[in-house]
Amino acid sequence: MRGLSGLVLGLVMGVAARAAAAPGDSPKMKPFIDQLMAKMTLQEKVGQLVQYSADMAVTGATIRADYQNEIEKGQVGSIFNAYTPAFTRQLQRLAVEKTRLKIPLLFAYDVIHGHKTIFPIPLGESASWDLSLMEKSARIAAAEASADGLHWTFAPMVDIARDPRWGRVSEGAGEDPWLGSKIAAARVRGFQGDRPGRTDSVLACVKHYAAYGAARGGRDYNIVSMGERELREDYLPPFRAAVEAGVATLMPSFNEINGIPATADPMLLQKILREEWKFQGFAVSDYTAVEELIPAGFAADGAEAARLAFRAGTDMDMQSGLYQKNLPNLVRQGKVPMAEVDRSVRRILEAKYRLGLFQDPYRFSNEDRAKGVILSPPHQEHAREISRRSIVLLKNANSVLPLKKQGTIAVIGPLADDGLNILGNWSAAGRGTKTVTLLEGLRQVGGENVRIVHARGVDLLDDEVLHQTLNEHGAGLTKDPRGAEEMRREALRVARGADVVVMALGEAESMSGEAASRTVIRLPAHQQALLRDVKATGKPVVVLLFNGRPLVLGMENEVADALVETWFLGTQAGNAIADVLFGDYNPSGKLTISFPYNEGQIPVSYLDKSTGRPMNPKVKYTTKYLDAPNEPLFPFGYGLSYTSFEISEPRLDSERLKAGQRFKVRVDVTNTGSRDGEEVVQLYIRDLVATVTRPMKQLRGFRKVFLKAGEKKELVFDLSVEDLKFYDQKMRWVAEPGTFQVMVGNSSRDVKATEFRF
Ligand code: BGC
Repeated sequence: MRGLSGLVLGLVMGVAARAAAAPGDSPKMKPFIDQLMAKMTLQEKVGQLVQYSADMAVTGATIRADYQNEIEKGQVGSIFNAYTPAFTRQLQRLAVEKTRLKIPLLFAYDVIHGHKTIFPIPLGESASWDLSLMEKSARIAAAEASADGLHWTFAPMVDIARDPRWGRVSEGAGEDPWLGSKIAAARVRGFQGDRPGRTDSVLACVKHYAAYGAARGGRDYNIVSMGERELREDYLPPFRAAVEAGVATLMPSFNEINGIPATADPMLLQKILREEWKFQGFAVSDYTAVEELIPAGFAADGAEAARLAFRAGTDMDMQSGLYQKNLPNLVRQGKVPMAEVDRSVRRILEAKYRLGLFQDPYRFSNEDRAKGVILSPPHQEHAREISRRSIVLLKNANSVLPLKKQGTIAVIGPLADDGLNILGNWSAAGRGTKTVTLLEGLRQVGGENVRIVHARGVDLLDDEVLHQTLNEHGAGLTKDPRGAEEMRREALRVARGADVVVMALGEAESMSGEAASRTVIRLPAHQQALLRDVKATGKPVVVLLFNGRPLVLGMENEVADALVETWFLGTQAGNAIADVLFGDYNPSGKLTISFPYNEGQIPVSYLDKSTGRPMNPKVKYTTKYLDAPNEPLFPFGYGLSYTSFEISEPRLDSERLKAGQRFKVRVDVTNTGSRDGEEVVQLYIRDLVATVTRPMKQLRGFRKVFLKAGEKKELVFDLSVEDLKFYDQKMRWVAEPGTFQVMVGNSSRDVKATEFRF
C-alpha cells in the first residue's frame, strides 16, 4: 500500500517525487522541496498556509461548510478536527487525487491529555511530579492519535498560571516556570518521539505564546500588561524549553501583551522565537486569531490583519481564511515579500516531508494499528498508574483514610456515577462510555466485603442558566426528576446507614478550560449545603474534589474529615481513586498550583517577594491583608501521604559555590510512619541580595523517592551556577556573587534552610 501510493505520487510529481526519501531528516529534503516549490503558483503556496476545521469536533466559533471544496482546489495545507483512518483518508484523497500538485494535508487535533485513552487533565497530571510518566502519557496519546490518522497535536499547553479564575489553568502545569519547563520538554519528547517520521508520533505545538495565563482579572482572552523581566523570567521559560526539546510548531496566544496582539507581535515571533531561540518549525495562529485583530482594534480590515499577522511571523492561519483571501494580492501589491511567503511555505512542506507524507500520504491512517493500540490494555494500565499518582491528599484527620475493605460505604454526590465529566475538558476523542466511574472503581477495588450504597444527593448544578449554557456546548448534564428535597432525604438516609461517607463533589468539566473563567471559585452552594447536612449525621466524611482549577476550600477543609483532590482523571479515574481510597496506592501527588485562601488573594503563587515591608502579622505597616493571610490555603508543592516523612537539614559539601563547578546538597529522608510511601522532596533557593530583587523561594530541584516504612535514604541534589541566574538590570542572564539560601522540604511552605556563598 505504501509503495503503491508512493509510486502513484511519484508518477504525478515526476523528478521531485523520485527524490523523495524516507521519512525524517534527509539531505534529499531540500532539493525535493525546491523542485516542488518551483512548480507552485502563488495561490498554491498560500494554500499551504491555510488551515480549516473539519466538522468532527467543534473547538471554536465558526466552521466552514465548504472546507472540502477548498481542499480540492488546493487551497488548504492543513485540516484540524478530523480523525479516524477512514475520514482522514477520505480528505487526504481529495488533496492528493484532486489537486494539481498532490501535496498531502496535515491533520491536526487538540490531543491534550490523551486521544481516546484519556489521562488526567494536564494540571492534575503535573501533580504527579513524575516527568517520565508524563512523557509516557504524551507518547501513548501520540500512538493513539497517529493511528487514528492524525499528524499533529495542539499541545503541550505550557502557560504559567497563577490566577485560578482563569479556566485554562487546567490545561497547563501550574504556576512554576522551572517545573513547567521540565514538564514542557517531557511532553514534547513524548508526543514527537525520538526522531521525526515515526508513525507512532505526532508533531507537537507549544502554546499559547505568550503570557496567556496572565489575562487581566482571570478573564479569558483578556489583555496582558507585563514588563519584559516578568515575561522572560516567569512566562517564557517553558516555551524556550519546548523549543530546545525540538518542538515542531508553536501557537501564538489570543491575548495582547502591552497593546500588541501576540499573533502579530514581531518581538515575540521573530526577535525572541527565531533570533534568540533559533526556532526552526512553523507558527500556526490560534482559532480565527488573525481575524480577531480587527475587533481588537489592531487592524482595520482583513487584508491588514493578514499582513500584520503574517509579517510578524505567524506562518499558518487557523480558520479565519484571511491569508487565503488576501495574501496573494498583498504579495502582488508589494506589501508582503514573496520571499517571506516562500519561507513559511517551506517550513510547512518540511514538516510534511519529515512525517513521510510525500512518500505515503496515508501512512498514519491505519485501521489495523488503530484497532491494536487505541484503548489497549497497556494504555489503560498507564492511565490508572498516572491517575493515582496525580491525586493529592489535602487533609486526612484521624487517619480516616485509607478505607477498610469492609463495612458500608455511602457514596454521595453528583459526580459519583458520572463518566463524562471526569474526563475533563479537552478530552479529544475520549468517550464517557469508556470511563471507569467512581462507583465502578470502588466496587471493583473494594471487593466483596464492602457494601457500597449510592445517592446522587444533588444535581451537579442548580444554576439554571449555567446548566443550559453548558449543555448547549455538549456538557450532557442531567437533572434528577425527583427534585432537590427528595434527593437530599435519600442522601441523608444513605449516609446514616453507612460506616463512612465518600462525597463526590465538584465542577462540571466545562466549568474549567477555555472560555470558563469564574470570579467565585468555590463548590456550588447547593453542593456545599449537602456536605454540611451529611456531616451533621455524625459520620466520618471523605470529600473527593473533581475540578479543573484550584478552588477556595476553607469550608470543606473545616467540615470534611478527609479532603482528596482528584481533578478530572480521565478514563481510569474510578479505579485510580479507589486505589488511593482503599490504600492500594499511598498518595504522593503534590500541588503545582496554589489553592488560595480566598479569591481576594489572586493572583497567588509561592514565588512571592519580601518587599521593603515584609509581612509581620503583629506589625501594622507591613505587606499583608487585614482579613486573610498572605499564604494560600494549600501551597505549591503541598500534598499528604498515609505515612509521614522527616526531612533533615540540608548539608552542603562546601560553603562556597564556584563558577563552572557543581555543588552538592544532601538531605536524609526518613519514612517515619507505618506504611511504605513516596515523597517528593523539593529544593528551593533564594538570592538574599541582588541588583534586582529576587523571590523568597524558587524551585531548583526535586526528587520523588520511595521509602519503605522506617526506611531512610540520603538524597543528593546538584546545584550549579546556572541555577542562580536571573535577568539583571541590563537584562543580561547572570548569577551575582553573594549569599544564597538553599531550602529543602516537602512543600514550598515546609522547608529547612542553610546558606552558601557564590
Ligand atoms: C484554543 C486552542 C486550540 C484551538 C484549536 C482555540 O480556541 O485556544 O488552544 O488549540 O482552539 O482547537
